[in-house]
Amino acid sequence: MLVCACSASKYFGRKLAKATGSGYLEIETRRFPDGELYVRVCGDVAGESVVLVQSMYKEPNDRLVEYLLTARTIKELGAEALIGVVPYLPYARQDARFKPGEAVSLEIVLDLLAHAGTDRLVVVDAHLHRVPDLSEISRIPVHNLTVMDRLGEYLRANLDLSEPLVLAPDEEAEQWAKVVAEILGTDYCALSKERLGDREVSVAGELELEGRDAVIVDDIISTGGTTAAAARLAKEAGARKVVAACSHAILALGAEHRIFSAGVEELVASDTVPSPYSVVSAVPPVAGLLEKIARS
Ligand code: R5P
Repeated sequence: MLVCACSASKYFGRKLAKATGSGYLEIETRRFPDGELYVRVCGDVAGESVVLVQSMYKEPNDRLVEYLLTARTIKELGAEALIGVVPYLPYARQDARFKPGEAVSLEIVLDLLAHAGTDRLVVVDAHLHRVPDLSEISRIPVHNLTVMDRLGEYLRANLDLSEPLVLAPDEEAEQWAKVVAEILGTDYCALSKERLGDREVSVAGELELEGRDAVIVDDIISTGGTTAAAARLAKEAGARKVVAACSHAILALGAEHRIFSAGVEELVASDTVPSPYSVVSAVPPVAGLLEKIARS
């Protein structure tokens, strides 16, 4: 097996190659003056099983196109199989046609990945509201791994939490709050969320947190609006300390200021999106899955 990575995931790719004992193949990428991308696969992939890593955060369109150019080239150069590892899969929120005429972006993106030659896709904590299993809407098998258990273990080992209550800011996050609460040996509660706009949400729920800490758990922190609203609610309910944990710390548009000024004291995240808060790695679960696939 050979591992390679596009520009957003070089460090992740090298760690994955090391964890799986695989060779690492360089991919050269640069940008032409007009913004187009140039891609070159720097090595022989003929007959190889190749793993291509690219997390598609912050500039999802560029990162997607870079992946498509690289994947297709790897297959044209004769790779026997191509496993795409996309630690953060973008466009998953638009998983249905909510208004007439809207693009169902998730299905289109999955189709593009398959069309470029991806034989199997590995993602981490994909945002799944209405689609329980991505394989059902994809032409190729999709493995959706989680880092929530690792985030829970990190919180347990490193934070001095006092009688924590784990908060899911919405219904979807309840599954992750449950995992983290079990690891912390405590209870959890799901709030109800109403999205008022791209950056505005309102979060409601009856909480009694006097003398307790609150741990807000979500898959994505993007603008931070959701986490900030949950943090304010926890503080109003008397929470002593509020911490937040997420798989993907996208942190767009001043999110850090938004969540820390709402009362969050500590943020922990995984390395699917590199950030100063990426204290937990998604490499071990991805490596474990790749080893299982290689044995099968
Ligand atoms: C949405 O349902 C997700 O699980 C997150 O809650 C959402 O993406 C967070 O976005 P933001 O940080 O912009 O509120």
